[in-house]
Amino acid sequence: MNVSESLEAAINRQIGCEFSAAHCYLSMASYFERVAYDGFAAWMHLQSNEERLHAMKFYEYLLDRGGVVQLPAIEAPRYEYGSPLEVFEASLEQENDVSKSIYSLYKLAMDEGDYATVSFLKWFIDEQVEEEKSVGDMIDKLKRAGDNPEAILLLDRYASERKPESED
Ligand SMILES: [Fe+2]
Ligand SMILES: [Fe+2]
Repeated sequence: MNVSESLEAAINRQIGCEFSAAHCYLSMASYFERVAYDGFAAWMHLQSNEERLHAMKFYEYLLDRGGVVQLPAIEAPRYEYGSPLEVFEASLEQENDVSKSIYSLYKLAMDEGDYATVSFLKWFIDEQVEEEKSVGDMIDKLKRAGDNPEAILLLDRYASERKPESED
């Protein structure tokens, strides 16, 4: 059973959303590299790569279901920030928007009785919980560090220890 036209359009929007997140995280990495926070930069590069993988999961799924991939335009991301905390707060806002977008995709799939898509989306729903948590934890740590440069450098080191996520 092929995917419906409305789901096809929504999945294409979601592909754009994931690529746009990848683009934003890459821009955040470039900000961190510019101000010599190498650990935060590495964290952002990993995150950007993960978002690209998310986009590709949707891309492959849409093709598997007989849909047409129509990549939407991607907006130029912000590249200027005032502090690491500001970057991670922008990142959390972005993740919250992505979660909402996945929930509405899920609702559309439910309404249409497209259970293959419902099942496919479950991985993303769980993934969003993890991503919101890891960004939220970093925000808590950065708030605790406040304006203390040594504490922020320790967090930069901590961020550099992040490992790429294993694919499942
Ligand atoms: Fe994502
Ligand atoms: Fe994400």
